[in-house]
Amino acid sequence: MGSGTLQKTTTASEYPQFVKIVEVGPRDGLQNEKEIVRTEVKIQLIDMLSGSGLRVIEATSFVSSKWIPQMADHTEVLTGIQRVPRVQYPVLTPNMQGFQDAVAAGATEIAVFGSASETFSVKNINCSIEESMLRFEEVVKSAKERDIPVRGYVSCALGCPYEGNIEPTKVAEVAKRLYEMGCYEVSLGDTIGVGTPGSMRKMLQCVLKEIPPSALAVHCHDTYGQALANILTALQMGVCVVDSAVAGLGGCPYAKGSSGNVSTEDVLYMLHGMGIDTGVNLAKILEAGDFICNALRRKTNSRVAQARSRML
Ligand code: HMG
Ligand code: MG
Repeated sequence: MGSGTLQKTTTASEYPQFVKIVEVGPRDGLQNEKEIVRTEVKIQLIDMLSGSGLRVIEATSFVSSKWIPQMADHTEVLTGIQRVPRVQYPVLTPNMQGFQDAVAAGATEIAVFGSASETFSVKNINCSIEESMLRFEEVVKSAKERDIPVRGYVSCALGCPYEGNIEPTKVAEVAKRLYEMGCYEVSLGDTIGVGTPGSMRKMLQCVLKEIPPSALAVHCHDTYGQALANILTALQMGVCVVDSAVAGLGGCPYAKGSSGNVSTEDVLYMLHGMGIDTGVNLAKILEAGDFICNALRRKTNSRVAQARSRML
């Protein structure tokens, strides 16, 4: 090698030029709040997020209000928001009842949510993985008949609150099933935020044998502070869709000990700093974060928002 030859270094070209952010704050972010958040607050949050350049905002869940009381106002939320053209507002639907209610409320995109852990599946949606797949097949079939796109989730992709380690082959099996039944994108959830770049890489290596990177998303919770590193690892492996929540809100009531989602502000700061386009205006997300933290009387989990507020 001549002395003038450049050594290979990590460059932005190893990363996608554009990353799609799926904002899950209004759903994943709020579902675990103990006090019921007023419907007007949820609507205003979504409307503020809609003006930020986001293309996907997960709005609510059509689940049982006995299981998730916070999402009981799903119809009012979905019909109350000002829909912005080119923004999708997917909603969670665990079964046909949820799907029918969502369609009646005007949903134009839905998400089914499965798990790579048998125990979590039972705790979260009261059925085995196999039973959930049969339910989702029916939902996806009905959605296709109405041209409604369906996103799929695999929870516990990097660990389960009840079973501990989850085999990457199990994650790949469930993800493949969702993809083959017609989910246009499969989001791999580190539900309890225990993953590291090492376990993310191993899991993705396995899943990528079954699904192209263009149909994958990562959904990281930040319990152990590894979320940004895990996302970076996924981007290096070709994933270019990232789920995140404004102000780092979130948690799942059936995943004890887990903390919020990775914050949208922090993901945007990292991506923009790397020269990766998202189409999202960080300042507008910070405003939406301020709004929801004031409404919840809560300090933001976003490190970027904390840093910016210290500068004021
Ligand atoms: P079940 O009790 O087994 O339901 O719950 P069932 O079919 O036996 O019906 C019992 C009652 O529920 C009936 O009412 C049904 O009508 C009603 P009753 O006759 O007793 O008055 N019901 C419903 N009501 C409203 N909407 C529905 C619905 N379905 C039945 N869709 C069920 C099964 C799936 C409904 C329940 O377990 C449930 O709602 N679970 C939702 C749990 C949830 O939302 N978890 C959080 C989201 S997952 C997550 O956060 C992880 C994720 O972020 C990714 C990650 O982080 O990894 C996605
Ligand atoms: Mg989640």
